[in-house]
Formats: sequence, structure tokens, C-alpha cells
Amino acid sequence: MSDKARFRVWRGDGGDGELVDYAVEAHEGEVVLDVLHRLQATQAPDLAVRWNCKAGKCGSCSMEINGRPRLACMTRMSVFEPGEPVTVTPMRTFPVVRDLVCDVSENYVRARQIPSFSPAPGTRPGDFRMTQSDVGRSQEFRKCIECFLCNNVCHVIRDHEENRPHFAGPRYLMRIAELEMHPEDTADRRMIAQEAFGLGYCNITKCCTDVCPESIRITDNALIPMKERVADRRYDPLVWLGRTIGLR
Ligand code: SF4
Ligand code: F3S
Ligand code: FES
Repeated sequence: MSDKARFRVWRGDGGDGELVDYAVEAHEGEVVLDVLHRLQATQAPDLAVRWNCKAGKCGSCSMEINGRPRLACMTRMSVFEPGEPVTVTPMRTFPVVRDLVCDVSENYVRARQIPSFSPAPGTRPGDFRMTQSDVGRSQEFRKCIECFLCNNVCHVIRDHEENRPHFAGPRYLMRIAELEMHPEDTADRRMIAQEAFGLGYCNITKCCTDVCPESIRITDNALIPMKERVADRRYDPLVWLGRTIGLR
């Protein structure tokens, strides 16, 4: 069984573009990415779309579908009403390279700024054991596929370009939280989180959590606990005294 889907697809480069209407064949059981591929194959061979796994695991096919940040390979055509137009646009928060492809490289710059896992000097592989609860916590964060839908949806940068240099977004604040919560880690990244990565800009709206395709509880399990840790440090009387007399 097949039908024509009504697609409105953003075409253009970073500077200029427009929504272009297409009628594309769609088959039962397909996802939006299937229809975009058919569009490439039949009508728009120059359409730029990034994808890789078609299984929700590589994080490449992030885009906005009827205004909602989603993975195209995990968005079933059956969620739309028959005849409903499907509007497909690139992620709004990142610079557009062309059509549906964004430049997300600023995220990798942020990733490199995070001090890596730092066990006590002399610790060798196998020297420590983790409890299952500690393993479970980092396993949740490690489900991240780096689709950057969370960063894309966060209003702190989505609606305020001026915040961009000061706010790294939820994905890498979560990475800091993951390392901070590791029981064998000895580094202190709390001030980096607060000052360089802009944790204080997050006002826990939870939009990031709502769009995460891996259902990671970014706000409750990473950002709020990280805020609590920062608050503990900032309001620790010894830390305050040290800061006041210039020791810390
Ligand atoms: Fe994507 Fe979720 Fe990772 Fe954010 S935390 S980059 S939404 S998988
Ligand atoms: Fe943004 Fe998520 Fe905080 S959407 S404001 S980082 S809870
Ligand atoms: Fe890999 Fe969609 S193609 S997540």
C-alpha cells in the first residue's frame, strides 16, 4: 500500500532558504527518513540530509519535524494524520550548512574542554570496584547518542543567541555530572560547570529531557544534582573563607 505524503522541506544554505513543497510516495511502516530518501531518489537528488544508522543510534538525523526536534529515522509516518503536511526543517539552534544539515561542531569544542576522568595517582585498571548503583547512574548518561536535540531545544541558546558563548547546553553539562558522580574520580569540575559551561543559566525547564530520544532524565539526574553540588561548594563556609582571603 502506498500514498502520497505532503512534505514541506527547508531548502537552502546558511544564509538563505525557503520551504519547498513536495508530494512523495510513502509506504506503510515507513519513517520520515525513508520518505526523505525517496525524495532524494526521485525529485531532489541534491537534498542534503545527514544520517547513518537508521536505527536511532548514531544521532545523525536530528531535525525539526512539524516544529518538534526529533530523529527522522525514529519518527513514524503513521503519527501524522492522512494528508497532514509534514514540515521538515534543520535544527534551529545550530548554523545550517545546507538544507537539513547543521554544523554541530561547537559541541565537540565543548567536549574537549572537560577535564577527563581522573582517578587517584597510581590507580591501575582493576584496582577499584564500583557498586551497581554507581554503574547504573553512569550507564544512563552513557546512553547518549550525541544527537544534540537537547541543546537544540534549550531556550537558553535557542532564543538567546547572546548566551551562546556562556552556555554549553545540557549535553555536556550532563557529561560533567557523569564524571563528577564517578566514585573514583578526584577532579573537581564544579566551578567549570558553573562558570565556563554556564550551569546557572539552566532554569530547569526540562525541555531537554522531553526531547531526548534515549529518555535520559537529563534535568533530574544530571543537571539538578550538579546544581546541588555547585551550591554545596559555593556556600561551604570553608570554601567561602578561602575565597575571601584568596586561597581558593
Ligand atoms: Fe541526544 Fe539525549 Fe544525548 Fe541530548 S542527552 S544529545 S537529547 S541522546
Ligand atoms: Fe535548558 Fe534543559 Fe535546563 S532545556 S534550561 S538545560 S533543564
Ligand atoms: Fe542514526 Fe537516525 S540515522 S539516529
